[in-house]
Amino acid sequence: MLIHSAGQLLTLQGGPQRGSDLGRLGIITDGALLIRDGQIQEVGTSSDLLSAYRDEPLLDAGGRVVMPGFVDPHTHAIWVGDRVAEFEMRLRGKTYLEILEEGGGILSTVRSTRAASLEKMVAETAPRLRTMLAHGTTTAEVKTGYGLDKVTELRMLSALINLDARLDIGIVPTYLGAHAVPPEYTHNPDDYIELICSEFLPELSLWWDQHASGCPRPFVDVFCEKGAFDIGQTRRILAAAKDLNFPIKIHSDEFLSLGGTRLAVDLEAVSADHLVASTPEDILAIGNSNTVAVALPCTPFGLGEANYTPAKDILSAGGYLAVATDLNPGTAWCESMQFAIALSCRYMGLTPAQAIAAATINAAKAVSLENAVGSLEPGKQADIIILSCSDYRQLGYRFGTNLVQTVIKEGQTVINPSQVPA
Ligand code: NIG
Ligand code: FE
Repeated sequence: MLIHSAGQLLTLQGGPQRGSDLGRLGIITDGALLIRDGQIQEVGTSSDLLSAYRDEPLLDAGGRVVMPGFVDPHTHAIWVGDRVAEFEMRLRGKTYLEILEEGGGILSTVRSTRAASLEKMVAETAPRLRTMLAHGTTTAEVKTGYGLDKVTELRMLSALINLDARLDIGIVPTYLGAHAVPPEYTHNPDDYIELICSEFLPELSLWWDQHASGCPRPFVDVFCEKGAFDIGQTRRILAAAKDLNFPIKIHSDEFLSLGGTRLAVDLEAVSADHLVASTPEDILAIGNSNTVAVALPCTPFGLGEANYTPAKDILSAGGYLAVATDLNPGTAWCESMQFAIALSCRYMGLTPAQAIAAATINAAKAVSLENAVGSLEPGKQADIIILSCSDYRQLGYRFGTNLVQTVIKEGQTVINPSQVPA
C-alpha cells in the first residue's frame, strides 16, 4: 500500500531525541510512504513515490497529517471495577495517600481484581485498549500490580498475553508486584519483599519462558513512595530483577523524592516515571543518563494538583523525555495520548513538536522498542495514524476530542474514518 498526499508527513526519523534536540519531527511536505509486509519500505514525497510505484493500492491522505502511532509507555490499563467514590472523597479534601493508608486506593482495586476471573479481566480491559487504539495509540505498556499475590499477578499477565493476541494494539507487559504492600503483609512488609525476590521473580522468569517464549521479557517496576516501598526495598527488588535479566522501571518522585530516580540511574533502568517532586540532583542524574524520564501529566491533572514534571529542567539537563497517560482507576482514567500532549504543552511548557516526539520515538525508547516503532523509517513497523487536520500543532492546541481519523497497525487499517465522527 502507498499512502500519499500527506500535507505533513511526520517521520520522527533519526532515533530518540535527548535534551534540546527534542522536537525534530522530520517533516516531509506532501509526503508519501510505501508499506510492504506490515513494514515501512520507503518514505519520500508523493510525486517521487507515485511515479516509482505505479501499481500499488493507494490511500489518499488528502493533505492531512500522517505520523507514527503513539506509544503509551506507562499504563495500568488492566484492572477490574472503578474508584469513583474515592474521586468524590478527594474532591471533599482527602488526599490520595490518605486513602491508600486507610486501605483504599490501590488496595481497593486489588480486592476487585483478585475476585475476578481471567475472562472478567479481559472483558473489562479490552474496551479501554480499543479506546486507546481509536485515539491513536498503537503500542501500550501495561502493568500488573492489582493482584499482589502470585496467582492474581500471573492471571493478569495471562490476560495481557491473551489481549495482545486478540486486539490490534501492541502490548508491552510489566510486572508491578511491588505496587503496594498487600494487606496480608501490612505488619511485615519486608517479608513481602523477600517473597518477591526469592520466589515470585524466579518463578516469573520460568513462567515467562513457558507461556510467552520468544516474546521480550516483561519489565519489572516498583512504586517507590511513602506508603508504598522505600528506597532500600525498591533497590532490593530492582536489583533482584536485574540479576534475573528482567529490564527494569520505577515509579519515583510522584509525591515525595525518596531517591528513586537516582537509584534508577544507578541500576540503568530503562525509564523512571512520574518525576514530579524530583530534586535538582535527581534531574541532573537522569539528564546525564540513558534512563528515559517519563512524564505523566494526566496524573496531577486527575488529582487536581498543581505540580507537574519539570520537563524543561530535564531537557536542559540533557535528558530523554517521554510522555504517557498513566491510565489507571485511581489517579488518571485517561486513554488518550492526545490529552496527555495537550497537558504537556500547557503545564510542562512543551511545544507541540516536543510533545509529539515525547509521545512517539522517545516513548518507544521508554519501552525499549525504539528500533521497531515510534518513527516512520524503512524497516520499522507500519504503525501509522492519519489525523483529521493538516497542521500537526492542532495536537496540543485542541483537547477533549479525537483528532485521529485512521489507524494502521502493522500495515492493516484497523480504524478508518467511517468509525470516527468527523
Ligand atoms: O502511577 N502511583 C502508583 N500507581 C498509579 C496509580 C494507581 C492507582 O491509584 O490505582 C500511578 O499513579
Ligand atoms: Fe503508574
